[in-house]
Amino acid sequence: MHPMLTTAVKAARKAGSIITRASYDLDRLTVRRKQHNDFVTEVDHAAEDAIIRTLRDAYPSHAFLGEESGASAAAENSDYLWIIDPLDGTTNFLHGFPQYCVSIAISQRGQITHGVIYDPVRNDLFTASRGRGAFLNDRRIRVSNRHHLRDCLIGTGFPFRDGSYLDTYLRMMKAMIEHTAGLRRPGAAALDLAYVAAGFYDGFWEVGLNPWDVAAGSLLVQEAGGLIGDLAGEGDFLHGGQVIAANPRIFAQMVTALAPFRDDMMRDAKRKKPTPVAE
Ligand code: IPD
Ligand code: CA
Ligand code: CA
Repeated sequence: MHPMLTTAVKAARKAGSIITRASYDLDRLTVRRKQHNDFVTEVDHAAEDAIIRTLRDAYPSHAFLGEESGASAAAENSDYLWIIDPLDGTTNFLHGFPQYCVSIAISQRGQITHGVIYDPVRNDLFTASRGRGAFLNDRRIRVSNRHHLRDCLIGTGFPFRDGSYLDTYLRMMKAMIEHTAGLRRPGAAALDLAYVAAGFYDGFWEVGLNPWDVAAGSLLVQEAGGLIGDLAGEGDFLHGGQVIAANPRIFAQMVTALAPFRDDMMRDAKRKKPTPVAE
C-alpha cells in the first residue's frame, strides 16, 4: 500500500473509533443545526481533528479541506490537498441508523490519487490508489456488469436542505423509478459511491454534493472500472455538485435518462440560497 494511503487508513480508523464510541450514547451528543436539516455534532469535529492531526504529523506541509474546519491556510499554494468528510451521513448517525462513513482523499495538483472510505458499523474499508485498482477489505472490487438500466439498482440522495431543486429532482426520481429495477436512498453519499465501485449498485446520482462527499468515492469508482461525471456525463463533478456514477454502459443510459431535466437543474442551482434555520 502506498504510504499516503496507509496514513489515510490510519486516520480513517481513528475517526471511526471516535464515531463508534459516540454511537453507544447518542443521547449525550450536543447537536447544532448548520442550516435547515443540516446537523453537526462534537463527534464530526472530534473525528475531523483526529484525521487532520494524523495526516499533518506525517505530511506537515500538506493542505487540508475539511467539511467542518474548511480550507487550511496552505490550501491555495500546496500541491497536496487532503479532502475530508469526517462523518458522512450525520443524520443517520444521529438517529442510530447504521449507514455512515469516514471519507478521506488526497488531491495532487488537482487530481485525486488516493482515497479511503471507512464504514465503522460494518468495519468495511474501501481503498483506492490511482492506477492500482479499488479494494474492499483488501479484496479487489469491480463495478457491476449489468447492461440495461431496466435491470439496475440505482442509488440516489434527496435534496433535503434546500428546496430550490426539489420539484425538478422529484421529476428525475419519477423517471428513474420508471426506467430501473429499483432506487435506494441510504443517506451517505460517499458510501453510495463506494457501493457503485463494489457493484452493490449499478449506478448513483445526486445533486447538491460537496467535494468532500465525492473525492474519495470518485477514485474508487474509476479504479473499479466505472465512470463518474456531472449530469451531462462530463465536467467538474468534484466541485460542480452534480454527480452521476455507474458502470460504463449504465452511465451513458443514466445520462440519457436524466438529460430532459438538466436545464431545469441548472436554473434551480442558480436560484439556490441557503435555507434559514427553522427552530
Ligand atoms: C450528506 C450525506 C447525504 C447526502 C448529502 C450529504 P453529511 O453528508 O452524504 O447522503 O444526500 O448531500 O451532504 O452532511 O451527512 O456529511
Ligand atoms: Ca457528507
Ligand atoms: Ca459530514
